[in-house]
Amino acid sequence: MNNMQNLIETTKQEFISALKKVNSLDELEAVRIAFLGRNGKIGALMDTLKKASPEEKKGMGSLLNELKEFAHHAYEELQQQLQGQKLKKELAKHSSFDVTAYKKHTSSGSLHLYTHLIEKLENIFISMGYQVATGPEVETEYYNFSALNIPENHPARELHDTFWLTLPDYLLRTHTSTVQIHMMEQKKPPLAIVAPGRCYRNEATDATHDFMFTQVECMLIDKNISIAHLLATAKTFLQELFDKKDLKIRVRPGYFPFVEPGLEIDASCPFCTNGCSACKKTTWIELLGSGLIHPNVLKCGGIDPAVYSGFAFGMGLERLAMINYGIHDIRLFHSNKIEFLTQFS
Ligand code: DAH
Repeated sequence: MNNMQNLIETTKQEFISALKKVNSLDELEAVRIAFLGRNGKIGALMDTLKKASPEEKKGMGSLLNELKEFAHHAYEELQQQLQGQKLKKELAKHSSFDVTAYKKHTSSGSLHLYTHLIEKLENIFISMGYQVATGPEVETEYYNFSALNIPENHPARELHDTFWLTLPDYLLRTHTSTVQIHMMEQKKPPLAIVAPGRCYRNEATDATHDFMFTQVECMLIDKNISIAHLLATAKTFLQELFDKKDLKIRVRPGYFPFVEPGLEIDASCPFCTNGCSACKKTTWIELLGSGLIHPNVLKCGGIDPAVYSGFAFGMGLERLAMINYGIHDIRLFHSNKIEFLTQFS
């Protein structure tokens, strides 16, 4: 046996014993690099062979190729075996995992029904070109009453059971119509605003009355605004709100000091055609107080009633939600009862 043949044989034995000691894929990789890698032992034998005589090359070349193939084959076989073992270990780790086991209950929060409704309402008005407006909840007597054509000693003040603050002239607003004056003062017509917000009235609470509630006020001011604009807007809004294209409206005279003429707008019951509990068997539901803005109100807002006219309407959000969802007690809205709140997530 010549020198080269010897070298090939010892390398093979070294490789076999190195492989025998391998216990992991990392160790196997180290053996691969040492023997089959770019600078490995088998590579080094190839380099030696290049320098050998042509006869030597002939015989030794095929021996060396055999070693190379043998090493590759043995390496791959052990690699597969080790990968299989690793996978088994991983699976064994999870074998005691019980998919039916008790998991600590976590509940996710949700938006309040108010937020859902206000967003829906605002989006309807925004799609009609309106802007969302807000005003303060702590108001002065001027914005809540006088500027809205309800002067001192006017009987309409008696209808608004007002929470007066200890500061003279200050109160908690009793309606969102106050936002009308703020907007007229801040912007020039054409004005198209929708103002949802909290209101307060100092009255005894029961299932349909609360000391705190939400109203939405809508106002449009421009040249030549008439009742036709009011009715078309109210109808479109209610049809969108109830998602009912064939919803009808009907109009009755109503008295509100800040509009002239004043109208009450009813909607055909969105839930029935021949009477149900939502419409109290009448097929109509009272929804909006409305009218053409009184010239005195426009004047207070700094708008010339000889040039501009406008309409306004207002509605109570809780009543609307109560009809829509069959809620029987208005006080539930801010009761913080989790059973109530989670129904609307
Ligand atoms: N502010 C009125 C209320 O609290 C509702 C209302 C009636 C608003 C007529 C209006 C309106 O804009 O034109 O009852």
